[in-house]
Amino acid sequence: MNFRRFFLAAFVALFTAMTSNAANEGLEPLIQNVYSRDVQLLNGSWHYLLDQLEVGYYDYRREPTDNGFFKDHQVNNVDSYKEYDFDSAPVMAIPGDWNTWEDRFLHYEGTMWFKKDFLYEPDGGRAYLYIGAANYDAKVYVNGVKVGEHIGGYTPFNMEVTDVLKPGKNFVVVKVDNKRYLEAVPTVNCDWFNFGGITRDVMIVNVPKTYIRNYKLQLKKDSQNVVAGFIQLDGEKAQQKVSVEIPELKVKKEYTTDANGYVEFEFKAKPRLWSPADSFLYDVKVASETDAVEDEIGFRTIQTRGREILLNGEPVFLKGISIHEEAPFRSGRICSEEENLTLLNWAKELGCNYVRLAHYPHNEKMVRMAEKMGLMVWSEIPVYWTIQWENPDTYANAHNQLMEMIDRDQNRAAVIIWSIANETPHGEARDKFLSSLSISARKKDDARLISMAMERGDKSPTVISINDTMNQWVDIVSCNQYMGWYDGKNEKLDRVRWEVDYEKPLVFSEMGGGALAGHHGGKDEFWTEEYQAELYAKTIKMIDERVPGFAGMSPWILMDFRSPRRLLPHIQDGYNRKGLISNRGQKKQAFYVLQEWYETK
Ligand code: GCU
Repeated sequence: MNFRRFFLAAFVALFTAMTSNAANEGLEPLIQNVYSRDVQLLNGSWHYLLDQLEVGYYDYRREPTDNGFFKDHQVNNVDSYKEYDFDSAPVMAIPGDWNTWEDRFLHYEGTMWFKKDFLYEPDGGRAYLYIGAANYDAKVYVNGVKVGEHIGGYTPFNMEVTDVLKPGKNFVVVKVDNKRYLEAVPTVNCDWFNFGGITRDVMIVNVPKTYIRNYKLQLKKDSQNVVAGFIQLDGEKAQQKVSVEIPELKVKKEYTTDANGYVEFEFKAKPRLWSPADSFLYDVKVASETDAVEDEIGFRTIQTRGREILLNGEPVFLKGISIHEEAPFRSGRICSEEENLTLLNWAKELGCNYVRLAHYPHNEKMVRMAEKMGLMVWSEIPVYWTIQWENPDTYANAHNQLMEMIDRDQNRAAVIIWSIANETPHGEARDKFLSSLSISARKKDDARLISMAMERGDKSPTVISINDTMNQWVDIVSCNQYMGWYDGKNEKLDRVRWEVDYEKPLVFSEMGGGALAGHHGGKDEFWTEEYQAELYAKTIKMIDERVPGFAGMSPWILMDFRSPRRLLPHIQDGYNRKGLISNRGQKKQAFYVLQEWYETK
């Protein structure tokens, strides 16, 4: 891209990023590391009302009403009436998706209202309502007052509710609408299930009047002995003495925040480096005069050198697998640490040192668990397929989700790659959109590499390549290649080689094919375990013999998952069958083919 287009891209980014996403309102900057805070979890049974026509939000002229369900009017339905009632409505377990709560909700896309009563005792500090994720458009009310709205199904958001909460009884109402629409992120078509609901933890976060809202500590880019970061306070007493303490490094540094409550710092230290072989995390304490927060933070460097990826200065091969945030066995949106652990244990059993958490940021505990288990992470925003590249609101939404993803996980050493897109069609508008996202990501966080699943551009039927103008905006060149499945049968893998001209590491962000667990036949029969195993064997052979500069892969996918695109009766039945493991936990033959190869790496 020439300089004129570069600056145009940057201008577009600046302009659209400044235009707050039309619907996001009332949101406050994200509180870092909420799980270390004094929180009151609001998880559990919430009353719900399925409101397909959104009568709880609009009047009969389709105008937003001031007397919607969020008021939760209390009437006796004798001398005055209403046509809804939460307290006599059924309950649903939150966090969770409604689609798998009851069979009748499986394919429901629309609005569901949720209400939770709770007791609260003010402690003289400030209070925020924090929601780990709600898919897709969440309007949030406390005691009948709108406190915020968030667009995006996979990133956390918080709203200050200090002045809305009352001592004693309070109630929160959330309107969640998971209808898909063209301008959304993702857009209307994607190959995963659009689970609607309040799908992650909900909590009241209690903090001092002036508190440590955000902080970052990571090794300075390209250094193994300088820790760099910042502290951001929030509150009236912005200028304070703050400190960073890492007892095991015998480090205690003191700084003073500026009038905005902010201070950047760096200090010399020689930390034990985080890696898959040694997933050591330091206890870190960040303190101010009025607040203190503790975290577990790992330190490592991640770089590229020509076609190599370097972890702590040493070449590393990404032995990965792609994972959707879908619960094993019950095939709903994951909502427990046990479900995270089952998937990550399968990845470890496979021999992985790396997971691609597709196609959206997974829950925070998944990332923290992967970090503790020594799994590097590719984390991604759902800029997927045919996004509306020319729509400023679409860009602002994608940008906002990218910033929220980075804000939440910027201290997770395991996260080595931010991915800004998946399989997006070539085009000038797409390049402007994505190059702007790449610029923003790099500006916000230089402690990780940037990538995306790019477009192939073969040189001939037997010389496979990538030809994507986005190559200049990524550190790692990656593509989803499906030879043996969508692109020829398995025999094609025997007669092709790769020739990628970008002097950057090459990874397969996806490869694979479908098989129904327990369905057996010839190696040339689609949908048999034997076919899938043969596809993996031939892909591995091709990689070993004919893919120069190959730095790793995250085959598609660890486990069969629900997808409304997959309709083949008796084989798919609404599931994408490319899993190495079925949704019932049955390992297919291909699992062992990949496991054996990873053992040699
Ligand atoms: C695509 C896409 C995945 C999809 C997969 C498939 O590459 O990135 O989200 O599930 O192919 O077709 O199974």
